[in-house]
Amino acid sequence: MLKATAKARAHTNIALVKYWGKENQELIIPMNNSFSLTLDHFYTDTLVSFDESLTADEFILNGQVTQDQKLVNFMNLVRQKANLASFARIESVNHVPTSAGLASSASAYAALAKAASVAAGLDLTNRQLSCLARRGSGSACRSIYGGFVEWLKGQDDESSYAIPFMEQVDWDLQMIAVVVNNQAKKIGSRHGMQVVVETSPYYPAWVETTKKDIAAVKQAIIAKDIDQLGQIAEENAMKMHALNLSASPHFSYFEPDSLRVMELVAKLRTQGISCYYTLDAGPNIKIICLKEDTSKITHALEEIVSKDQLFIASPGPGVSLLDY
Ligand code: PMV
Repeated sequence: MLKATAKARAHTNIALVKYWGKENQELIIPMNNSFSLTLDHFYTDTLVSFDESLTADEFILNGQVTQDQKLVNFMNLVRQKANLASFARIESVNHVPTSAGLASSASAYAALAKAASVAAGLDLTNRQLSCLARRGSGSACRSIYGGFVEWLKGQDDESSYAIPFMEQVDWDLQMIAVVVNNQAKKIGSRHGMQVVVETSPYYPAWVETTKKDIAAVKQAIIAKDIDQLGQIAEENAMKMHALNLSASPHFSYFEPDSLRVMELVAKLRTQGISCYYTLDAGPNIKIICLKEDTSKITHALEEIVSKDQLFIASPGPGVSLLDY
């Protein structure tokens, strides 16, 4: 039965071991497993209403009517799965602070997958929901779950999904997002990772090391060892960015302030503060640390950036339905 309207919330996640390259571009099957932490403060709320009187899908993102072929393709996939002809009105609000410059595609497609599938009358398991979210944006498949999550690469549409590693994180971890530039990224992740797969001579080594990195990250979480967790995550991010530098044409997401923040984090470590950085497809830095150290770190960061460029988050929950 078509339950024509549903609303869902999903949170962003940050990869500690990255996804950077696809084996299958249409189905978004990655080259390697990846591992992430879902965050509490940054999320997307999405309301989907199928309406037989509409002649096309309507997208309202943060109060503005938007056209987006990727979203249309995603809704076509939902319609195909539900054997449905109606178009839908989709209203989505990103609670990623507008100036945060953090990727919101993970929370956006996880929330849309949940709301659209429920509104279309599909009763998906979390595994099926993760597969569906993946078709919108790879990293979105991990935002179905809270806490620490692994995306199993699989080999086809049904076998590539995320599973929770630890949904309730009983560890006072935090992530400080340092926004050095809130403009749209120069090179989108889809294009950047494809250039890397096709041209970086180091790509096979990357795929190999991600396996070791995921095993080490899991051990670090079980042992609550912030230094091991942070070191693996930081080195994994640097390996991903080294792929970009070794691609043809080569490219980089780093900006001068990214490097300044990275240097400061390394300096804080020499002073005995356990803090480590990671960067995704953009210049902004996310610092992993223990809650007890967050204020010392943000204080030090204020030498480089202003207070309003800093956003603090803790481990967060998986996708959920909301009242509307
Ligand atoms: O899911 P996409 O297409 O936005 O790609 C995400 C890629 C990274 O954020 C750089 C890494 C990751 O695993 O999230």
